[in-house]
Amino acid sequence: MTGRTALAALLLAASVAATAQPLGLPPVPVPAGNPQTPAKIALGDKLFHDARFSADGKVSCSTCHDKSKAFTDRLKVSKGFNNLTGTRNAPTVLNAAYMKTLFWDGREPDLEGQSKQPFINPVEGGLPDHSPLLAVIRKDPAYVKAFRAVFGVEPGAITIDHVARAIASFERTLVSGDSAFDRYYFAGDRKALTAAQVRGLEVFVGQGRCVSCHRIEQTQALFMDNRFHNIGIGFKRIRGKELETARAFLRAKQAGADVDKTVLTKQNMSELGRFAVTENLTQVGAFKTPTLRNVELTAPYMHDGSLATLEDVVDFYNNGGREKETDPLSPFLSGGIRPLDLSDDQKKDLVAFLKALTSPDVARVAGLAGK
Ligand code: HEC
Ligand code: HEC
Repeated sequence: MTGRTALAALLLAASVAATAQPLGLPPVPVPAGNPQTPAKIALGDKLFHDARFSADGKVSCSTCHDKSKAFTDRLKVSKGFNNLTGTRNAPTVLNAAYMKTLFWDGREPDLEGQSKQPFINPVEGGLPDHSPLLAVIRKDPAYVKAFRAVFGVEPGAITIDHVARAIASFERTLVSGDSAFDRYYFAGDRKALTAAQVRGLEVFVGQGRCVSCHRIEQTQALFMDNRFHNIGIGFKRIRGKELETARAFLRAKQAGADVDKTVLTKQNMSELGRFAVTENLTQVGAFKTPTLRNVELTAPYMHDGSLATLEDVVDFYNNGGREKETDPLSPFLSGGIRPLDLSDDQKKDLVAFLKALTSPDVARVAGLAGK
């Protein structure tokens, strides 16, 4: 590299990093083996939106992670090719760049690994393997040119790993902060939150104990902890059958069943949560703490989409991890989950606070007037 191109590359890298770090967010971690470049990001963007990589030619990543819906599909559980439904709610891809594991059960360690799965999942892209996708790319002159420029590969040498790296680079640009909360908390703008939102923040960090999992740090807040907890969601489906379901899962896995396919096609197996990855019985029904950024725009909620509104979510926590106070408690509940004894006003304030976590740019694209 000449001095000038090295400098240009450095400046470019700096500008990518600068635009990728809004108020309230830490720098985006970028793996050494997959540096960010504008051309790679643009290629990933295109791949993310290409519906040809599915069995019916209608499903792309953006079908279920739609920019105009804060990168979700707003469905209870996602619909793949031929309108087949899976078992889980599509999380937003916004700020997924900060996650140490991907998927509700953390079964993929990075965005590169994650992005190979949907194409070949039987209820998502529905391809038998990655070869039809690579065939489309190798025949498309624009893709051939882009892969050559980004990775220096000729068509025959393009692999799914190149595809995954480009998509992951694009996803690392999908970060969003700069919410009313960020302006209040990190930039000292006392007027950024309403009085109800300020009271809601007090509930969030105090009596509600939300912050113990949905973390706020000194200089940034991701509202997640990269850990797994059982808060009681979906428990009803396998109540009394936890061990039986866990054993059936292990038998299927030993017989060669793919975890990604199993958990997204079998409702009871889906409810095993983190157990499917660690095979640790204490993690039956434990799921990854999702970020709460932009949560106003991503209903319905939870890994199974079972809670329709933020009011429902707050009631669920207030009841100690149950939809109704009369429901039985799961024996697998995480330590922090117990009745909160919040008043009706505190519950309203907490919901108001959750709406202060919306990023104005995301709200605008979603058709909501971002402040
Ligand atoms: C048919 C709908 C559908 C399609 C198509 C789809 N996804 Fe997803 N996505 C989901 C669902 C559902 C989950 C949660 C699955 C789970 O956790 O088991 C998910 C999870 C994810 C996650 C993990 C987020 C987190 O919080 O852990 C990322 C990242 C992601 N998808 C990116 C992609 C990319 C990239 C593509 C295209 C290659 C894609 N998705 C295609 C529905 C879809
Ligand atoms: C013990 C850790 C823990 C505590 C405490 C906690 N949460 Fe959660 N939160 C989670 C986990 C784990 C999930 C996902 C559970 C699932 O889908 O099974 C979640 C999901 C959510 C969701 C749904 C997000 C989405 O995208 O679907 C919201 C909203 C939420 N929590 C708000 C709160 C509020 C408000 C509080 C305080 C009253 C709180 N949480 C306390 C761990 C926690």
